[in-house]
Amino acid sequence: MNKKSLPETGNKIRLRTSFDFGWKFFKGDISGGQLLECADAGWRDLDLPHDWSIEGPFNPQRGSETSAHLPSGIGWYRKHFHVPRAYATKTVVIEFDGVYQNSEVWINGQYLGKRPYGYVGFYYDLSPYLNLGGDNVIAVKVDNARQPNCRWYSGSGIYRHTWLSVTNRVHVACWGTFITTPKITAKSVTVRVNTRIKNDNKSKVFCILNSAVIDRDGKLIRTETKSGWMQANGGEVDLTQEMKIKNPRLWSPEDPYLYIIRSEVNRGPGLMDVYETPFGIRVAVFDANKGFLLNGKQVKLHGVCLHHEAGAVGAAVPERVWERRLQLLKEMGCNSIRTSHNPYSPEFMDLCDKMGFLVMDEVFDEWKEAKPQTPDFGYRLYFDEWSERDVTDFVHRDRNHPSVILWSAGNEVIDQVAPAGPQTLKKLVDIFHREDPTRLVTVGCDRIVGEPEAVSNEFLNLLDVVGYNYVDRWRDRRELYYSIDRQAFPKRKFIGTENGSMGGIRGDYYWLFPSSAGVTSRNSHDKWTDFQQMWKFVRINDYVAGDYMWTGIDYLGECRWPAKGNTAGVLDTCGFKKDSYYFCQSQWTEKPMVHLLPHWNWAGKEGEVIPVLCYTNCDCVELFVNGRSMGVQGYWFPRYGMSEHYENHLLRNNAPRTTLDLFLRWTVPYQPGILKAVGYREGQVVATDEVATTGKPAAIRLRADRVDLAADCRDVAHVTVTIVDAQGRVVPVADNEITFEILGRGKLIGLDNGNPVSHEDFKSDRRKAFNGMCLAIIQSTADAGQIRLTATSPGLKANCLSINTAKTCRVL
Ligand code: GAL
Repeated sequence: MNKKSLPETGNKIRLRTSFDFGWKFFKGDISGGQLLECADAGWRDLDLPHDWSIEGPFNPQRGSETSAHLPSGIGWYRKHFHVPRAYATKTVVIEFDGVYQNSEVWINGQYLGKRPYGYVGFYYDLSPYLNLGGDNVIAVKVDNARQPNCRWYSGSGIYRHTWLSVTNRVHVACWGTFITTPKITAKSVTVRVNTRIKNDNKSKVFCILNSAVIDRDGKLIRTETKSGWMQANGGEVDLTQEMKIKNPRLWSPEDPYLYIIRSEVNRGPGLMDVYETPFGIRVAVFDANKGFLLNGKQVKLHGVCLHHEAGAVGAAVPERVWERRLQLLKEMGCNSIRTSHNPYSPEFMDLCDKMGFLVMDEVFDEWKEAKPQTPDFGYRLYFDEWSERDVTDFVHRDRNHPSVILWSAGNEVIDQVAPAGPQTLKKLVDIFHREDPTRLVTVGCDRIVGEPEAVSNEFLNLLDVVGYNYVDRWRDRRELYYSIDRQAFPKRKFIGTENGSMGGIRGDYYWLFPSSAGVTSRNSHDKWTDFQQMWKFVRINDYVAGDYMWTGIDYLGECRWPAKGNTAGVLDTCGFKKDSYYFCQSQWTEKPMVHLLPHWNWAGKEGEVIPVLCYTNCDCVELFVNGRSMGVQGYWFPRYGMSEHYENHLLRNNAPRTTLDLFLRWTVPYQPGILKAVGYREGQVVATDEVATTGKPAAIRLRADRVDLAADCRDVAHVTVTIVDAQGRVVPVADNEITFEILGRGKLIGLDNGNPVSHEDFKSDRRKAFNGMCLAIIQSTADAGQIRLTATSPGLKANCLSINTAKTCRVL
């Protein structure tokens, strides 16, 4: 798209075009930034999404543990654009998917409005103020100066996409469809479509709506017609249609099948609008005895909590970065995401639909009562004025996603124990129910038991599903977890909205050595024991719908200097797998796997006894040290979903049962060489893993997740950079600094290594490896061609990698 001029609509009925390109940016406040005559020629040129916080620098003086010690402040954005005369008969709407925070928007000097909440999407009608056939300027002030206002890293700026919708004056309203499936049997489904149509003409209009169900191959399945009158000047009509479909293909994590509703709006013989809404057909039920059921089948939620940012790219996350992260989580056996603690981007929600994740969609971290970390400037400042609008918009935006199975109105809100808490909760739950009668509502509660303050039953009884955060924190007999409440409230629906994960720092093993305990990740062992205990309980107690570990992926903020981020994830900020990732995989997947830890480079510890651990979903594993067997270890506790079969075959094969834990362990006096684990099922070798003592760092290895990108300024490649020895084995302790050079049709948009205490600039051209690895994220430009990445480091063999970019559309 030409940066300056909006496209002619031609014969397009509805034009939805990116508005991300060709903005001007000024970091700081400026008086008159909204005025037509504001001199912005010297401002920085950039494209959206943009997060100025992630550009750094880190500053310990900045003090805020919540924002990763990165800058915040005020920023201004302006974009000049030309509007064709033909837009005279159109409605032109600008959509912002998210601006952090307190945005104010002007078009041609005319104030359009403000939006305090930085995570919610919003839009403005530009039509009345456009200079047709001439130049226009849109100005956005972003005010993230008052800190801290969020308990984690928020980012600052117009950090999500912007869109321009050009429609006829009669059109489907923004987020104007709501698709539900009130009746589903094995043989048929009734699809109900509610459509809101808007009339921006100066006279009243009669319209005819044709809605069609279309399958994934584009085949028309059913159509239905309905009509109605709309008043002039913004008048709306809501039309409801029902269509019965035979033999529907249901949506599920294993088969995330999507249909489309195509809404065609006609005025007399003239076609006014065509609007498409993807949707899925599925039955999601929370049950007091059976936990969660999808399409009639019990599904345990293997959940992770996430935050919205993604390491080196900050809050401005390219879609492919999320796609890769979600692929990794899926491979681990995760089937559910909690969007802690705020609305995510629309493309994230689309990915969950397409990739088959079940989503707990959360809206707030704070209601009316301040949290200790955000005493003055949290959401409570805006709650009274904005919460109804924010929840309504959030629900309208997300309610057609089949992935969304549960709304969460809040996380650990202090209002749980405030006198007005139940009243505030009721107001929110009523809005959710009013805007979406099909889904249940929860809150992540962390005060279920407590002295002197515990959440009242009045509060809990208002929840459709009771969300427990850290259920193991409250009772003396913590191993009872939910049991006491289950006995007291047999009708209650339980879900573990948040519990600890195993986390840890990737490649860090000092926790295995008692003499070094406390050096780095002091708590790893405790976390790991807690996690396995909790998981054992959740998996055998049907009434608990599932559990969301805190967190799936490391995130920025919520840390004390020198740390800049929190290492609760099973993936680090690069998306590199920690050992804990494999623990989850061993519990949540069936494809045979074996993972050994720690690494085997312990020069100086010769003869010292080192615990060697193994995460596996095999029945038993034999460990070999330099070819010598250290014996076979096996589980007492049956593998997930395999109990009966497992019992029988263990008896048949006389398999060893050596541990009640969910992992295997040997103790091995250290000697350099090779550890090899051989995994068995039913007496057959089904998986192996090997860890070798490596030589010194010798070379740099580059591996891209994809070497063909779309030349669209959006697509990215993740280049995993490892330091290898002369035999090509990753050196697990290497920390060499690598310098990158990029030539051709690409940009380096972030370097990272997952080290929580590194203060290297995410946007520079050099990075130290951390425990052998680092990551380069490369984005395409608008031109097709080649990208060449070169990586060098003193004393190491350099390497380079080529990536092709082409003008093709990538279909996710
Ligand atoms: C929880 C909270 C999360 C995060 C976590 C850190 O209580 O809900 O947002 O702060 O603690 O451990």
